[in-house]
Amino acid sequence: MSAYSLLILPGDGIGQECMRETRRIVDWAAKAGGLTFTITEDDVGGTAYDRYGTPLADHTLALAKKADAVLFGAVGGTQWDDLPFDKKPERGLLRLRKDMELFANLRPATVFAPLAAASSLKQELVAGLDILIVRELTGGVYFGEPRGIETLPDGQERGVNTQVYTTSEIERVARVAFDLARLRGKRLCSVEKANVMESGLLWRKVVTRIGAAEYPDVALSHMYADNCAMQLVRAPKQFDVIVTDNLFGDLLSDCAAMLTGSLGMLPSASLGAVDAKTGKRLALYEPVHGSAPDIAGQNKANPLATIMSFAMCLRYSLHQAALAERLETGVLRLLEAGYRTGDIMSEGGKLCSTTQLTDELLKILA
Ligand code: IPM
Ligand code: MG
Repeated sequence: MSAYSLLILPGDGIGQECMRETRRIVDWAAKAGGLTFTITEDDVGGTAYDRYGTPLADHTLALAKKADAVLFGAVGGTQWDDLPFDKKPERGLLRLRKDMELFANLRPATVFAPLAAASSLKQELVAGLDILIVRELTGGVYFGEPRGIETLPDGQERGVNTQVYTTSEIERVARVAFDLARLRGKRLCSVEKANVMESGLLWRKVVTRIGAAEYPDVALSHMYADNCAMQLVRAPKQFDVIVTDNLFGDLLSDCAAMLTGSLGMLPSASLGAVDAKTGKRLALYEPVHGSAPDIAGQNKANPLATIMSFAMCLRYSLHQAALAERLETGVLRLLEAGYRTGDIMSEGGKLCSTTQLTDELLKILA
């Protein structure tokens, strides 16, 4: 029997109810796959601030580094809006990413056939869409120094952030993207703004070199980030895998997410480097959506992004690809059968609460 340790961090808002339901799916996976899970749960974000005075306690970070995988809900809420910058719920997530060195963020945008009509784009543009954005997650303007707000001699203030990338930071995320492209359609589009940014120029140079030297079988193209945003809504099916930096990846993945009809459907995986000795890698799995304070606590939220993030966990951390596929197929059947939460509701659909949707999914998986 395979045994795994999971750290579960539901966080704030709908992170709570989505994770509550995902735990039932974890139980299903344990039974269906003959797996044993040791589960620890802790707070992160605003709830951690309320309990520990910080959005990520040191002991929580230590647990995250020890676990086989972290399942993360969402962070943020209006009640924490006025906290100082370093106490904000988002800092908890950013510290986890940085201190666990989760440099590769995989954000698939897949259109489930029964939801193609929910997209804001014409159905024929998105039907069958299956793209993967690989976002660099521990560098760039999110973490670059210098940063801060300073007061100038004339009394003005000056806000500074720094976009910065080194060769090795670009190389490692490029390799993750090339490896994934190899398993899919063998096409990789690298996105930056080499026309205005030196960091973009270096990005393009390094990705080109890695491609030519190590991945001659993958077709590499380059695109400026503004053009990529435009192409994503003009003709999204031209893409297979996209690799880009932290900030462009943040923007482009929200855009790609909406092509699929709902942010409530999109999972993500944040991966560290594979340890050469143990073959293990640190990893955190989280939905792309946020904490949705407006519907939090009402049992209305769509749990599927969190549930499918667990499917990614099965695939990338636990090497249970068959089980991951069973779960993903179950979600497809659930949607085909018309079960919907409010965010993906359409005419003729059967409106479900967060719990009811999971009930139906478990019936299908049984
Ligand atoms: C995301 C989010 C985060 C980010 C926030 C919550 C810090 O928007 O994961 O895309 O900007 O990276
Ligand atoms: Mg974002």
